[in-house]
Amino acid sequence: MDDKALIYLDNAATSYPKPAGCMLRALARYIELGASPSRGGYDLAREAETAVSDVRHALRCFFGADEHYPVCFGSNATDALNTLIQGLTEPGDHLVSTCLEHNSVLRPLHHLRAQGRIEFDLAEFDASGFVNPDDIAAMIRPHTRMVVINHASNVLGTVQPVSAIGEICRNKGIPLILDVAQSAGAIPVEMKNWNVSGMAFTCHKSLLSPSGIGGLIIHPDLPIRPIRFGGTGIDSANLFHTQTFPYRLEAGTLNFLGILALNESLSYLQELETQGYRQMEMALTEKLRDGLSEIYGIDLYAAQSLENHLPLITCNVRGYVAADVGAILDGDFNIAVRTGLHCAPLVHKHISTAPNGAIRFSLGIFNTGASIDAAISAMSIIARNA
Ligand SMILES: Cc1ncc(COP(=O)(O)O)c(C=O)c1O
Repeated sequence: MDDKALIYLDNAATSYPKPAGCMLRALARYIELGASPSRGGYDLAREAETAVSDVRHALRCFFGADEHYPVCFGSNATDALNTLIQGLTEPGDHLVSTCLEHNSVLRPLHHLRAQGRIEFDLAEFDASGFVNPDDIAAMIRPHTRMVVINHASNVLGTVQPVSAIGEICRNKGIPLILDVAQSAGAIPVEMKNWNVSGMAFTCHKSLLSPSGIGGLIIHPDLPIRPIRFGGTGIDSANLFHTQTFPYRLEAGTLNFLGILALNESLSYLQELETQGYRQMEMALTEKLRDGLSEIYGIDLYAAQSLENHLPLITCNVRGYVAADVGAILDGDFNIAVRTGLHCAPLVHKHISTAPNGAIRFSLGIFNTGASIDAAISAMSIIARNA
């Protein structure tokens, strides 16, 4: 590798770098306050518990949830999706989902089906990368327990019509479970307005926080069982896990440092919003899309329109395997991208890019016009040599 500065375009995997000031402030607060939240009657533990409650409140505001919606912390979106899917399903249930899902939904569904516990149907997406709400409606059966969908595809970047799907679910009395792993922080999320009953988030992507912190927000009437049992700091005489929210879905000591970091990142994102960071990211995405689309031999996926789209572009170079392009971008140009199937094998199957997948450029708040120019130029050199 040469001495070129790293151009990081893999923010859909995890955002990099993290805002240093936020992370340092969180660490300082943790050093000062690091008792176990909700695990002690002394002042320091109570202060830690208040700090956690403040972040639960900040998340409700950030995601458009009501104040009485429980916010339960876990380690990431995968953890939260497992809790939602396994904690809501009963033997014999039917679920509706889509071919746009990440393995964090597909694998729980396939494991539960292999155990003979559930059945499911997956709605397909159109050539532009969108699911049709009518297809979801048509799949709902009398014993459908939930609809679980990805808000925004981590492969194609397309943002799904959640509000219309939420309306269908509300009319049929079926909970809508939403995976906002990619959208949280990148685009607005309106949990209550969209009739979402349960939402899984992860904080290390566009929420700009460290890995190991995520969780779920639910409608308080959602009849969800815990799938992990253990200490909660409350109701300790009970040998069964507490039913009280948010502890019902939190077993074991929380990632307090991660929660404090999330608090800092949420404030930082709100400040960035006043400077129009989302518009800036999309302007750079458009620049990348336009630059790549002018290069002979590059195929773009679902990027004709960038309306309802995340700041990411996925493509292939004809004559190359995606992983080889990634290796050249890394080795010759010091550009970090994600190649392959992006943990979403059905998306690649449907756009005919399996088994090698594609090259994904995903932007973040620290990217500049110069980094996009460098990526376009590198791709043009690679395509010319194909
Ligand atoms: C759409 C989607 N859902 C879920 C996940 C899982 O997130 P985590 O690995 O943080 O649990 C990802 C991660 O890439 C994702 O893109």
